Amino acid sequence: MKLYVILVTWQLLYAGLASAVEPISTSIAVGMAAALTGFLASYPNLFYHFHECCRPEWISFNDTHLDLALNKKLFGQHVASRVVLKTVTGYMNNPNPKKPLVLSLHGWTGTGKNFVSQLIAESIYHEGMQSGFVHLFTATAHFPHQKHLEMYKEQLQMWVKGNVTKCPRSMFIFDEMDKMQAGLIDSIKPYLDYYENLDGVSYRKAIFIFLSNAGGEKIAEVALDFWNQGRDREEIQLKDLEMAVTLSVFNNKQSGFWHASLIDKNLVDVYVPFLPLELKHVVQCGVAEMESRGKQADRDVVERMAQDMNYFPKDARLFATQGCKVISSRLDYYT
Ligand SMILES: *[C@@H]1O[C@H](CO)[C@@H](O)[C@H](O)[C@H]1NC(C)=O
Ligand SMILES: *[C@@H]1O[C@H](CO)[C@@H](O)[C@H](O)[C@H]1NC(C)=O
Repeated sequence: MKLYVILVTWQLLYAGLASAVEPISTSIAVGMAAALTGFLASYPNLFYHFHECCRPEWISFNDTHLDLALNKKLFGQHVASRVVLKTVTGYMNNPNPKKPLVLSLHGWTGTGKNFVSQLIAESIYHEGMQSGFVHLFTATAHFPHQKHLEMYKEQLQMWVKGNVTKCPRSMFIFDEMDKMQAGLIDSIKPYLDYYENLDGVSYRKAIFIFLSNAGGEKIAEVALDFWNQGRDREEIQLKDLEMAVTLSVFNNKQSGFWHASLIDKNLVDVYVPFLPLELKHVVQCGVAEMESRGKQADRDVVERMAQDMNYFPKDARLFATQGCKVISSRLDYYT
C-alpha cells in the first residue's frame, strides 16, 4: 500500500508540473499493480484458497466424516461399511504406504457401490466427486469399442501416469468392471504394485476403486442361507462373504478384470461385498431421498413405493432386485 501512495503522490506532483493527464492514469495502474503484487507476495497461499490444487487445503482425509457418512447415509451394508472405514482410514493414516490403495467393490446394482466411492471421495477431497483429482471411468462411456483396445490401453496408462504426476493423491474409479475388455486393466497393473517408483513417478499415494456386479449372486446366496437358518443379517461377517466373492470373480472368465493378474499378485487390498437390500432398506433410502429434497418424508408414500418394487426369491420377496437404484425416479411417480 505504501508503494502505491508514494507512486501516486509523486505522479500527481509530476503531473502538476507537466500538466499531462495521460501519465496519471498510467501511473495509477502501475501503482495498483504494484500494490496488488505486494499484497499477493505477503499472502502467497491466498491463490490456493480460490482455486483447487494438490495441497492440504483441498485434499485432507477426515475419518470422522467418513465414519458418520457411512453410518448415517448407507443402508443395510454393515460389512461393507466396516471394511471400507477400516481400510481407508488405515491407509490414509499411514505416512509411508508400500503400494497404492486398491479396493474392489462387489454386489448387485443399487446396493451402494457408487455411493460408497462418492463418500470416500468426499472424505478426502473438499470438492468430492467434482474434484479435478477424482477420475471416474465407465466401460461404456470411456472404452466402448472392442477394436480400439490397444489405443484405450495406452490412453489409460497416459492418463493415470499424467494425473499422478500432477497430484500423487489422485483417485481413479472404474465403474462397470464386468464390461471392461480383457487386458485393459492389465495395462495399469504396474501402477498398482509395490514399486517405489516407475519412471520417477510414485503411485503409492494413489487410490484405485473397482466397481463390479461380479459376486452379487453368490453374496445373495449367503444372505439367503442366513435367512433360511433364521439367523440375523447383522451376523453375516466378511469371512462368510469373502470366499463367495473371490470364487465368482476368479470364475467369471468373460469379464476383463479377472483375466488381469490382479488377483494372483494380490494387488487388490480388499474385496468389499455389498449385501442385497431388503424392503426396510429401500424404505430408508426413500426417506433419505425425500429429506435430501428438503421435503418432510411421508412414510406411507415411501412404504407404498417400496412394496411395489420387485423382490426375489419370488415367494419370500426378500431382496430388492434393483436395490435403491431407481428410488429417485420412482418417488416422483408416487408423490
Ligand atoms: C470432519 O468431519 C466432521 C463431520 O462431518 C466435521 O464436524 C469436522 O469439522 C471435520 N473436520 C475437519 C478438520 O474438517
Ligand atoms: C487426467 O485424466 C483425465 C481423464 O479423467 C484426462 O482427460 C487427462 O488428460 C489426464 N491428465 C493428464 C495430465 O494426463
